[in-house]
Amino acid sequence: MSVFEGKHILLGVTGSIAAYKAADIASKLTQAGAEVDVVLTEHARRFITEVTFRAITRRPVLIDLFDEPEERQIAHIHLAKRADVLLIAPATANILAKLAYGIADDLLTTLALATQAKLVIAPAMNTVMWQNPATQQNVRILEARGARFVYPVEGMLACGDVGAGKLADTPTILQAIEEVLNPPLRGVRLLVTAGPTEEPIDAVRHISNPSSGKMGYAIADEALRQGAEVTLVTGPTLLAPPAGAKTVPVRTAQQMLDACLQVYDAVDVVIATAAVSDYRPAEVWQGKRKKGEPEWTIRLVPNPDILRTLGERKGKQILVGFAAETQELLQNAQQKLREKNLDLIVANDVSQEGAGFRADTNRVTLLWADSTQKPLPLMSKREVAQYVLQAVRDLLRARSSSEG
Ligand code: C5P
Repeated sequence: MSVFEGKHILLGVTGSIAAYKAADIASKLTQAGAEVDVVLTEHARRFITEVTFRAITRRPVLIDLFDEPEERQIAHIHLAKRADVLLIAPATANILAKLAYGIADDLLTTLALATQAKLVIAPAMNTVMWQNPATQQNVRILEARGARFVYPVEGMLACGDVGAGKLADTPTILQAIEEVLNPPLRGVRLLVTAGPTEEPIDAVRHISNPSSGKMGYAIADEALRQGAEVTLVTGPTLLAPPAGAKTVPVRTAQQMLDACLQVYDAVDVVIATAAVSDYRPAEVWQGKRKKGEPEWTIRLVPNPDILRTLGERKGKQILVGFAAETQELLQNAQQKLREKNLDLIVANDVSQEGAGFRADTNRVTLLWADSTQKPLPLMSKREVAQYVLQAVRDLLRARSSSEG
């Protein structure tokens, strides 16, 4: 049975040239068994009429906050309550701003505030509008609140520009709704390591690195949204722990290893994004060491390699590592994958702009144990998280089918 069967989907259409594509989305959803209520904004009506949607969905189309198609019911509250998903496709920059700030000045925005349905948003707009920091900030606000975005794709836009801004295609949008209705990682137990470690030198000094934890937190967050049970073992970061994860804060590599070993036998997947300090001071000075000596030599000893340790004890787990490199990216990553007994490694060249430490974006190549490779373009760390988790889902599926 289709996951859409008997589901109530509110489809909000806003004023983009891509509004006509919403007719195809409404049609596919209806064919798949969903009951689709279409809400058009005033601007959307300039691009497409309610007649189209009424014919496709065989249901009244709503425009005005004060329309009451079913007597004795306040339409927007009634619709808001029964919806399983509120899909906004295409979504303009304007609606993203309104949603981000809770503005309710028409039927669609009022519904969006009044509903507890899952929100799926497929934007479409000019590339510059999409890349505008105001729009990007609104996207992040909405994502942090749990909205699922189906990002626009690159292509020739109506204005003649070429770039990101085209509405994603109907199958991709339908897949996102399907995932929201039926989270693909439900029942999967996932351990994520994130952030740097700190190796104390004395009471006030330590050795560390510039890892912000953003990549690992994005993975934890996205995995939670996809229904996974997430344990996040994290070194010190400035980020808020993702709601719903079991977060274990640690400081040193040894503490991180101990925390991972505690849960290792009870997880299905490990994704190690932590930038673990490879060495720690051999002795930790008691109190704060005073200045004044002409020289200070600190002897360092190697830290345990957490992922390698997990690889050595691997049972049924899927192990995913990250490889930050500045040279020979793919060879070094492949070697790490083999040495640490991993199933997948995410290689990133940290010498490139927009990739690696602290950035909000990353450019990575996925490498599998069978030597397959998938280079990805520069994208947000959340999008990287989505690709990594898609690969994890494929690996889990392959494993369960090989187990018969
Ligand atoms: O060997 P390298 O540090 O480049 O390997 C990177 C991968 O190994 C990352 O996934 C990182 O989280 C993990 N790692 C670890 N413990 C270490 C060093 C790296 O878990 N001590």
